[in-house]
Amino acid sequence: MLDGCAREITYLRLSATDLCNLRCRYCMPAEGVAKREHSGICSIEELTEITRQAAALGVRKVRITGGEPLVRRGIITLCRNIAALDGVEEVCLTTNGMALPRFAAPLREAGVSRLNVSLDTLRPDRFAHMTRVGRLDHVLDGLRAAKAAGFTGTKLNVVLLKGFNEDEIPDFVDLACRYPLEVRFIELMPIGEGAQVEFLPASAVLDAYPALEEAGESGSARRYRIPGGEGMVGLIEPLSHRFCHRCDRIRVTADGKLKPCLHSGQEIPLRGLAGEGLREAIRSGITAKPPRHYMAETGRSGAGRRMNQIGG
Ligand code: 5AD
Ligand code: SF4
Repeated sequence: MLDGCAREITYLRLSATDLCNLRCRYCMPAEGVAKREHSGICSIEELTEITRQAAALGVRKVRITGGEPLVRRGIITLCRNIAALDGVEEVCLTTNGMALPRFAAPLREAGVSRLNVSLDTLRPDRFAHMTRVGRLDHVLDGLRAAKAAGFTGTKLNVVLLKGFNEDEIPDFVDLACRYPLEVRFIELMPIGEGAQVEFLPASAVLDAYPALEEAGESGSARRYRIPGGEGMVGLIEPLSHRFCHRCDRIRVTADGKLKPCLHSGQEIPLRGLAGEGLREAIRSGITAKPPRHYMAETGRSGAGRRMNQIGG
């Protein structure tokens, strides 16, 4: 369906949990987040029902996010349920990759079509520092497992962090040159802990690689071909190139709130609703989707939650 600004909403980002097995410094506080009562989080059945009603309103692509979705009990059932819903053409999942060695094959079997893997550094020492508890080799094994399980079109999401990974831009572009991967550089958004970290515009990638060839827009990314390369480079620039005018998405948090815009505090509670009532609540949220965010003017996101509580 169309929102109040005549944008067609076809994409749902569904957060399966706010928990994560990493503690990235720009995302999570060091002590982690309190585990909620089971009852505070939607059941697999509730998440499936919300998605069913969103699909009835025109959602065709669903991305399962977190926190880290692979730590959610029942994640494979959720993927399978969603892949089987009428109207859903594509089920994607964003993961930090740590658990992919175990989960790649079951995800594929459950009907997940594509994966995005978040990876901000290719250096083991930096990875351990940034994630506080993670190991790079698990993620690299996870990428191999994804390939072995038959996944193609996998994307690597790299959040640009000034003074942390800007010197690795050439290494990431080189990776996209040698493998059929899309490496997407993402501008850090001033959400939660991210407001404390220094911003690096994605134009830094173009400065480092003037030879990149423009290849059009895809979703929220501007894409570039690497001359002679296998893969692609994508830039996601919520701050320096606002893409709100072509936004096609809504979000649902693990505690069952519809967020029509990532950067707005507006939330529509969906729990306890079913059938036509649930569909009507989602419809009202889509209709009231804000036209744009105001991060450039205010210097902060109005999200009102941390990133792990929304799913990016
Ligand atoms: N800005 C941009 N991306 C962020 N992520 C977490 N916090 C931020 C932020 N402030 C990303 C993670 C991962 C995804 C879940 O969200 O790196 O790619
Ligand atoms: Fe976990 Fe992603 Fe946040 Fe890192 S950025 S702590 S992987 S939710």
